[in-house]
Amino acid sequence: MVMHKNKRILIGVTGGIAAYKVPHLVRQLKERGAEVRVVMSGSAQEFVTPMTLQAVSGLPVSLNLLDVEAESGMGHIELARWADVVLVAPATANFMAKIASGFADDLLSTLILATEAPLIIAPAMNQQMWQHPATQENLSILESRGVKVLGPADGLQACGEIGPGRMVEPEIIAQTILSQNTEDESHCDLLSGVNVVVTAGPTWEAIDPVRGITNHSSGKMGYALAAAARHSGANVTLVSGPVHLPTPSGVNKIAVSSAKQMLEAVLGCVSDTEIFIGVAAVADYRPVQTRDQKIKKSGDTMSIELVKNPDILASVAACPEKPFTVGFAAETENILEHARKKRIAKSVDMIAANNVAGREGAFGNQKNAVTLITKDAEIEIALMDKYDLAMEMIRCIKQEYEKTRLLV
Ligand SMILES: Cc1cc2nc3c(=O)[nH]c(=O)nc-3n(C[C@H](O)[C@H](O)[C@H](O)COP(=O)(O)O)c2cc1C
Repeated sequence: MVMHKNKRILIGVTGGIAAYKVPHLVRQLKERGAEVRVVMSGSAQEFVTPMTLQAVSGLPVSLNLLDVEAESGMGHIELARWADVVLVAPATANFMAKIASGFADDLLSTLILATEAPLIIAPAMNQQMWQHPATQENLSILESRGVKVLGPADGLQACGEIGPGRMVEPEIIAQTILSQNTEDESHCDLLSGVNVVVTAGPTWEAIDPVRGITNHSSGKMGYALAAAARHSGANVTLVSGPVHLPTPSGVNKIAVSSAKQMLEAVLGCVSDTEIFIGVAAVADYRPVQTRDQKIKKSGDTMSIELVKNPDILASVAACPEKPFTVGFAAETENILEHARKKRIAKSVDMIAANNVAGREGAFGNQKNAVTLITKDAEIEIALMDKYDLAMEMIRCIKQEYEKTRLLV
């Protein structure tokens, strides 16, 4: 497990409904070894109590700028110096406007002006508020100053609307922040300058404008592999189906929807690729016909005719100058046997056999375990955090990739 013992994360909580997720975020960070201190805006205290955040962080929560006792030791400057990273989660539209304009009228905005630590924000708000030109201008100002913005994610909102504005899930925020930290502290040269393409997430095969065929893939394993490859010095392109994850820093993302689009994107860059890692859960079949209009309810039964999708992994492995090719076999029974057959049938160099049958691990979870199968070896990697697992996989992939290069 990668630990981050010296990582001091100052979380600023502002007054959005997603503040209820912050205790979970604090625990996620602490479980990975980070030290966490919390500063709350006045509005934030209406959504989650300082008592809860003090209990989960194990450290006093700071609330006021004009606090005679705290400021006897220049509390806001002490906090500004203490932090290795300042994370504002959730970041309200109001707070984004405030820091874009350089206001310093409460403890959090003041210490943000006073700190040298990098600033990361996880915006969360109603989708109209997010899309408002004022918020978008504030966002551009903040990004132009080097503020890292995580999300927001798309989906159903507390107000009942659907669209961009949900706070990125705490697990993802924690993983992103701490993997950046890993990049700072232990950036390695395992794959220095190597071009790597990773596919991730599910595909969406449209039936009509509102319905489609998809699956439970969260994209976490693929995104963790893209981040791990990047941290190992590779030039990484991530071809991703629809997921709610922030793009790992330094990674070039191509967003796609269907299996056909994913194949097109992959074939567009495969000739310059040295290592291809296919993690996406690509739909095996798609509707023969996608209707232009929403299908109306009529009879008691209905049928949708399906046609086989292209096999992306096999297509890459069949390229004349094929890259070192790694696939995933998500299986629910006879895991190793199916995975060995899949490796041979698709002519890939390595298969990660992945048990997705109801235990801890695989789809949607933060942890996973795999067995890597090559022509002459089977390497078991035990259940661990997906980012740590991805780093282990990158080490194994690098070794096997080097062997194939020696054979050339
Ligand atoms: C029930 C409720 C939910 C709210 N949720 C959000 C939200 O998710 N995002 C947001 O930007 N503002 C939200 N607001 C508005 C903010 O609370 C308001 O703009 C406040 O001034 C923010 O203060 P702060 O940025 O200092 O924390 C909400 C207000 C209410 C009453």
